[in-house]
Amino acid sequence: KIGVLASGEGTNFQELINLSAENKFDIDIKVLISNNEGAGCIKRAKKANTPYKIIKRNNFTSNELFEEEIINTLIFHDVELVVMAGWMKIVSSFFVSKFKDKIINIHPSLLPSYKGSKAIEEALSNNSKITGCSVHFVDKEVDSGSLIMQAALSVLKDDNFITLSKRIQILEHIILPLSISHAGFLIRG
Ligand code: GAR
Repeated sequence: KIGVLASGEGTNFQELINLSAENKFDIDIKVLISNNEGAGCIKRAKKANTPYKIIKRNNFTSNELFEEEIINTLIFHDVELVVMAGWMKIVSSFFVSKFKDKIINIHPSLLPSYKGSKAIEEALSNNSKITGCSVHFVDKEVDSGSLIMQAALSVLKDDNFITLSKRIQILEHIILPLSISHAGFLIRG
């Protein structure tokens, strides 16, 4: 029983929808939460008939109240694992403690390299020969916490942000479901 947090296009979320619909992956997506009402992930949730909730930071007077709404929604939907799939907001240590060892995040770099929101740009500007993506448990520090799985690829001579992002996402769509399985085994013992 997973809850997905996403802010953007939602291709990772879509992959989870597809695998589940094809009975290739035994997950129950209980809810999608997005902080961005115009995001592609919401359209995808609607199309797949997945419950969703838009929780915008601007509608709350404090970050605590914003996070409380997210926490309550996840608890209401009885999720066992929180999956950040393109969630572009930093969560507080209070949030992390509420779902201790039950939050995973996907990030477009080989962590610990290139933490933060410009991971792909930095891999390119640093002329990295190899980059990739990582799934890790979420800890109090940004883009840290123990790694579950990584996938690597070569940066090609002519790569730009778009071409590299696309190739990284192909790998993300493979390692995110595998990492959810792994986390599921750990959580359920
Ligand atoms: C993914 O590439 C993910 O790694 C990245 O956002 C993208 C979301 O794509 N996440 C971060 O940068 C988090 N720091 P999607 O909306 O198509 O799944």
